[in-house]
Amino acid sequence: MIRIENLKKEYPNAIPLENVNVTINNGDVISVIGPSGTGKSTLIRCINLLEKPTSGRIFLDDTEITDPGCNLQEVHKKMGMVFQSFNLFGHMTVVENIMAPAMDILGKGAQEAYDEAMRLLRTVGLYDKALSWPDELSGGQKQRVAIARTLAMNPDVILLDEPTSALDPTMVGEVQAVIRDLASSGKTMMIVTHEMSFARAISNRIFFMDEGGIYEEGTPEEIFDNPKKEKTRRFVKRLKVIEIDIDSKTYDYLGTQSLIEDYCVKNQVPYKLAKQIHLAFEEAVHQCIVNTMDKPMVHLSIEYSEEKENAAFVLWYGGEQYDLFEDGDEISVSILKKIVRDEKYSRDDNKELGNNVVFCIG
Ligand SMILES: Nc1ncnc2c1ncn2[C@@H]1O[C@H](COP(=O)(O)OP(=O)(O)O)[C@@H](O)[C@H]1O
Ligand SMILES: [Mg+2]
Repeated sequence: MIRIENLKKEYPNAIPLENVNVTINNGDVISVIGPSGTGKSTLIRCINLLEKPTSGRIFLDDTEITDPGCNLQEVHKKMGMVFQSFNLFGHMTVVENIMAPAMDILGKGAQEAYDEAMRLLRTVGLYDKALSWPDELSGGQKQRVAIARTLAMNPDVILLDEPTSALDPTMVGEVQAVIRDLASSGKTMMIVTHEMSFARAISNRIFFMDEGGIYEEGTPEEIFDNPKKEKTRRFVKRLKVIEIDIDSKTYDYLGTQSLIEDYCVKNQVPYKLAKQIHLAFEEAVHQCIVNTMDKPMVHLSIEYSEEKENAAFVLWYGGEQYDLFEDGDEISVSILKKIVRDEKYSRDDNKELGNNVVFCIG
């Protein structure tokens, strides 16, 4: 079991982890997902003490491994790490690469280390490569050797940081298959990955990282199918979002349209959908809201889904109860109705921007 208390990691120019509190149970297989730069590697490196936390404590079973007196080598025996770039020794054969740490660190004899290495090579499907040199292997094969080398230490916990992201797409599957077997063997694992369907298949818990920590965690069903928080939802649905705020009648209309244009180009929104997004902005936001109010206050998110090739408008605006599809300008509404679907209005008197309209385009 690993218990993390108030973990903080600060670099001169970034604080990737502000306050992480979490417990990893024996047998957990945890996938860590999230946008790049949100501290996924930092978290895994702090757990393994490859980075020194700025503050906070980490316990492995009942030992505080962040205690200055803690024996690092003992920690590294119990926690194995698999890196994106396999780090095999080029001057050793495959089998020697796997034997070396077991002999040097665990003090195993050569025969025992060899027998174990050969058994592990069989489990990762590389028995016939025992006497090859790392240079003779493909990336996928090298990563399988690196996993076997980690397993040779028989660690209680295995940490993997994007183990397939340096591989050609054709080799991802063979490495994932090895990791999947390992996950179902009951080993405690934590794996940083961008492969969501893989994460869903192997994990019992998902950590979504953002805003300096574990922003949301849950089972794969909870995180991928029913995320509770907005950023998680946008990430797992791979939504491309633009947010627009308008607080005056004399806002920069052309500038806003060109922001939307840039957003569509950058995210490769199909041409027809992009035109409809511009039109929907013009009719719904500009004509029906801004032009009809003395002091318009609008917050708009446009969420483009590449997968579904559609876009959602989520509009919040101030003022009295006003459903733009019911009460808006007739011509604008008739234009809108040709391009939108699933429109929904709701009212929340407790909010400053109390009117909410959501609709879908495409
Ligand atoms: N050794 C380092 N020195 C300074 N800044 C770092 C170092 N490692 C990571 N960072 C910064 O910490 C943040 C999180 O990095 P990282 O944990 O690698 O994110 P992720 O793995 O989620 O992409 C980034 O802003 C990164 O630039
Ligand atoms: Mg990383």
